[in-house]
Amino acid sequence: MRNLGCGLNVQVTAPRAAVVLSCIALLSAAGMAQSMAQSLAGLWTQPGKTLDNGEQQRWVLELKQDGSALTGTLKSLDYAVELQGTAAGNHFELFAPWQPGTAFIIGDLVNGELHGMERGRRPVVAKAGTAADDIATVSYIEPPALKTVADNGLAKTPPMGWNSWNLFAGKIDDQTVRTMADAMVTSGMKDAGYIYVNIDDTWEGVRDAEGNLASNHKFPDMKALADYVHSKGLKLGIYSGPGPRTCAGYPASYGHEAQDARTFAGWDVDYLKYDWCSARNIYKNDALQPVYQKMGAALEATGRPIVYSLCEYGWGEVEKWGPAVGGNLWRTTGDIRDSWDSMMANVEKQVPTAAYAGPGRWNDPDMLEIGNGHMTDDEYRTHMSLWALVASPLLAGNDIRTMTDATKAILLNKEVIAVDQDALGKQASPVKSGDFETWVKPLADGSVAVGVVNLGASAAQATVKASDLGLSGKVKKARDLWAHGDVKFSDGAYAAMVPSHGVLMLKVSAK
Ligand code: GLA
Repeated sequence: MRNLGCGLNVQVTAPRAAVVLSCIALLSAAGMAQSMAQSLAGLWTQPGKTLDNGEQQRWVLELKQDGSALTGTLKSLDYAVELQGTAAGNHFELFAPWQPGTAFIIGDLVNGELHGMERGRRPVVAKAGTAADDIATVSYIEPPALKTVADNGLAKTPPMGWNSWNLFAGKIDDQTVRTMADAMVTSGMKDAGYIYVNIDDTWEGVRDAEGNLASNHKFPDMKALADYVHSKGLKLGIYSGPGPRTCAGYPASYGHEAQDARTFAGWDVDYLKYDWCSARNIYKNDALQPVYQKMGAALEATGRPIVYSLCEYGWGEVEKWGPAVGGNLWRTTGDIRDSWDSMMANVEKQVPTAAYAGPGRWNDPDMLEIGNGHMTDDEYRTHMSLWALVASPLLAGNDIRTMTDATKAILLNKEVIAVDQDALGKQASPVKSGDFETWVKPLADGSVAVGVVNLGASAAQATVKASDLGLSGKVKKARDLWAHGDVKFSDGAYAAMVPSHGVLMLKVSAK
């Protein structure tokens, strides 16, 4: 089952040619429904929410009736599902091919409207459509042949910055981004290395007659915003995807890759997060590489250095081909939530990808939730430590303008940031022992960073043994990166109490 980002979960099994995207020219069903009392044939539409670019999401059902046999297509802005079923008087039942036993939509024709239920949980009240509901059909575009996109030379260490999605989701606008940029400077985030100010989904407007994508009313002048962000010594990131629609239902770059890349470059954008979303309704996972390559090549062709962030939820073994499509980072997981379980699950999903991380090519377990309020400070320290140990991008996802001192102390811990930004670019992997999970990351200067996470429900004593750290000699110096003080190994070991869900994080060097 797939979340199509339009309020529906459907399993898309239709062959590519049959996946007619977007909604359709509507004939009048009203007339038909009224003149032929019991006919269900025609086009039925149900309005959805209005997007910030003025477009209205909608659901359209085109039905054909032959006696008691019904066939039809259910469409939204970014997908289509073929349905078959039966009519008995005013009652109808429609089934998707992959689930012949359970009605996809069940209902009745009541006073010229379809009233019913979609998949047992979504009420249907569909009226006869009009031509005004028409949406152009999107046709299938063959992905390009594989080639290697040149390395853009960017992101030699994991990108650091801020992204709007985790906290603001669809409630992001120009003014918020500007004030966030201000706060990146005044809070010390910029000096600590957080440079990218990234706008996520819902900035998109509509395309003009030439296909140029504009921003919507929340972002009146994207170039002016980029200028503002640049004036603060920061860089601007933006968001799109290879499908016709983004995950929030806005126009994405399908069929407009080169044009959108030029638009972004023209706005002086420095970073693109490119989210698979509705591309899943067109392509199977075997097309991930060529489809991502298309935008990678388009970015390269602009001549502007733009960090390329692939967002494909860890699908298709992206860590193996991400660099070949010009990618600098790629998601290894689904979306993070502000919870201990989600955070730990995401970082542990990174484990199989460890060998593939390195300068310019980073595995991304998703953005930070530090400061968003649903984990304890111990848990947030663990979050920060683990993201640094696995050489993850550090994209804060909180409100930088109103950070508590505790949140600041976590996000601005320069000793932990230095572990993340280490030039060697190694990704730590964990070793489990009882309630402890130990992550060791070799560093460029021959020392190691080690994090011991207490997964248990109560505080417990953790012991770090020098012999487990892969060091070449006896311990010369050891430093606690959260206590900001040196600690002493004795008899080749160091022990300390670690709170539940907390972390002991050390940097240890050998003689
Ligand atoms: C997907 C991504 C998220 C965010 C949203 C925006 O879910 O994984 O990080 O970009 O889309 O709609």
